[in-house]
Amino acid sequence: MKKGSPVQSHNNKPTIQEELGVKLMTARHPVIKKLKKECPTSIHGDKFWSSSYLLMDYLNDNPPKKNAKILEIGCGWGLTAIYCSKTFGCDVTGVDADPDVFPYLQAHAGLNEVYIKPLVKTFDQLDVKTLSEYDLIIGGDICFWDSLNNTLFNLFKRAKKAGVSKAIIADPQRQPFVDLCARLDKDFSHEVWDWELPEPTPANGDILIIDFDRS
Ligand SMILES: C[S@@+](CC[C@H](N)C(=O)[O-])C[C@H]1O[C@@H](n2cnc3c(N)ncnc32)[C@H](O)[C@@H]1O
Repeated sequence: MKKGSPVQSHNNKPTIQEELGVKLMTARHPVIKKLKKECPTSIHGDKFWSSSYLLMDYLNDNPPKKNAKILEIGCGWGLTAIYCSKTFGCDVTGVDADPDVFPYLQAHAGLNEVYIKPLVKTFDQLDVKTLSEYDLIIGGDICFWDSLNNTLFNLFKRAKKAGVSKAIIADPQRQPFVDLCARLDKDFSHEVWDWELPEPTPANGDILIIDFDRS
């Protein structure tokens, strides 16, 4: 089967599609329609954002270490978390401030036959002790307000203290994210890659990689 092609149809309209081996329900899927009524999300966790596709593509080229413990921050519906569990067999936790994203994440984890540990916390609530349980932090489109610049900068400082090895964050080049990248030089060893994904779902943006081990 081709990447991105529909795997189920209803009235000739696809309700499930596949991205890099992960099955996704479209907005037409009855489960999504029901969840949208029962669990309206409140901080933009209302779909799979394209940065997740970028992040998956980056990880496809640069796989995490086997048995890595991964924390997806601002996971929303958890696409990248599911991808890492399904493709690399990693132990993955999805954390989000909005509890209403988790029914969508669980529905997709079930569809893909993986388990993602759910954690309801804000970025600020992720303390050094919690972060010390993880090797790798990932995130897609999580720096969309000016206030999140400081919030994430401080989270990176705690991650470094906690012994996390790396953070990989994808973004569609929103200004708060660009500003965040610009202030990392003094404290962190990092790279920013311009990333483009022509298919199956076209996406482009930046990938920030922070190497805490070298920072
Ligand atoms: C634009 S969505 C991206 C969701 C997902 N990463 C994706 O790419 O599909 C941003 C997510 O970050 C979460 N979020 C926003 N601010 C947060 C905070 N301060 N702490 C934890 N999660 C937060 C939202 O609830 C939402 O799920």
